[in-house]
Amino acid sequence: MLLLITLALSYALGSLSFAILLPRLTGGPDPRTYGSGNPGATNVLRAGNRKIAIAVLVLDALKGAIPVWAVMVLDPSQSLGAAAPAAAGLAAFLGHLYPVFFRFQGGKGVATAIGAVLGLHAGLALMLLVIFAGVLYRWRHVSLAAMCAAAAAPVLYALFIATAGDALGNTTALLLVMAALLVWRHRANIERLRAGTESRWLTPAEKRA
Ligand code: G3P
Repeated sequence: MLLLITLALSYALGSLSFAILLPRLTGGPDPRTYGSGNPGATNVLRAGNRKIAIAVLVLDALKGAIPVWAVMVLDPSQSLGAAAPAAAGLAAFLGHLYPVFFRFQGGKGVATAIGAVLGLHAGLALMLLVIFAGVLYRWRHVSLAAMCAAAAAPVLYALFIATAGDALGNTTALLLVMAALLVWRHRANIERLRAGTESRWLTPAEKRA
């Protein structure tokens, strides 16, 4: 029962779509009406307000990390199960994808997944950041970088972080579910990548050139 309440609260927190809420509070346009239409930090950046986009990124990541940290801190004896922190992170991630407060029409979950992974294991988050940055630098697609990092998460966790004998345990499985859902939510991006029409991420200097 306690685990169910924890997951429900995590899901509710994840359902707070900051990409919709922050522009609404500051008089900016709704990200569902321009660009890729995705309520996420990348699309908010397309409206030109970098500060709001960064705030969305941080808040969407925090709502993934907070449930994970909360379970770790409040349940140190792991009475809810060893995979409960990852389950709470996944619940928040599901809230972002299918938010109860926004007719279940949410985003793609990149920032919230980053937060959940950061909460689980900072070293894993660092490895994924290196993959994300490397793919982004080489190919200039945020979506491709996010999918590569997400796909690497369960593999790296199983190889380097899970305790011996538990590499294919519940936390690995939950990270795999998160990665699969994240890729699934990027299916329009995959189509655009295949067609060569996916938007490219440019540095401010490149934009000025
Ligand atoms: O933030 C999600 C990112 O991977 C892609 O976003 O807006 O280009 O579809 P977008």
